[in-house]
Amino acid sequence: MIKISPSVLAADFSALGEEVADIERCGADMVHLDVMDGMFVTNISFGLPVIEALRKKSDMVFDVHLMIEKPERYVERFIDAGADILTFHYEATSVAEEIIDLIHKKGARAAVSIKPNTPAEVVFPYLDKCDMILVMTVEPGYGGQALIPETLLKVKRIREEADRRDISIDIQVDGGITPSNAADAIAAGANILVAGSSVFKAKDRCEAINALRT
Ligand code: DX5
Ligand code: ZN
Repeated sequence: MIKISPSVLAADFSALGEEVADIERCGADMVHLDVMDGMFVTNISFGLPVIEALRKKSDMVFDVHLMIEKPERYVERFIDAGADILTFHYEATSVAEEIIDLIHKKGARAAVSIKPNTPAEVVFPYLDKCDMILVMTVEPGYGGQALIPETLLKVKRIREEADRRDISIDIQVDGGITPSNAADAIAAGANILVAGSSVFKAKDRCEAINALRT
């Protein structure tokens, strides 16, 4: 089953509650929340209070993507704020395994993400420890960029390694995902697609979500 996780980075920030309700109505499986600190990436998006406020308005699965330095500092607070899935970057920490354990101890699902230039192999030690791998298909930091095709080769390598070890892990792709390249991402082995612009900026969001899934 392919799951769609629309990223609110492309939504109307002045009406976030309504925007999340809208994609839920359209059958989105979860909502992707991009947290940026101006350090790990140059951009700054939003943080704890926004997620906390949205949590009061929505029962959707909150798929929180931390693009912050030393994510270990904030694991507990993001889960308390409402994260159901908490993704951190391999490049942002030296204690990945401890973070995965901490996320699990707090009762959330844990995911490790890699940037386009980080080799697929770095996540192999975590395949049997975490719930999801997020392969960035653009340089993190901004929505609306074009997918870097080579990143899908990494999706394939990770899916092959997981299959070889009989691990049924979720693999998420994020960045530049559109109805025209979704099939390539799925063929490479991804089963959760993040999409910001191609959902929130679409004329018909429900149609866009369906188009991604099929
Ligand atoms: C980029 C973010 C993405 C972004 C995707 O750093 O992690 O989640 O919102 O946006 P689109 O789908 O527009 O590339
Ligand atoms: Zn993201």
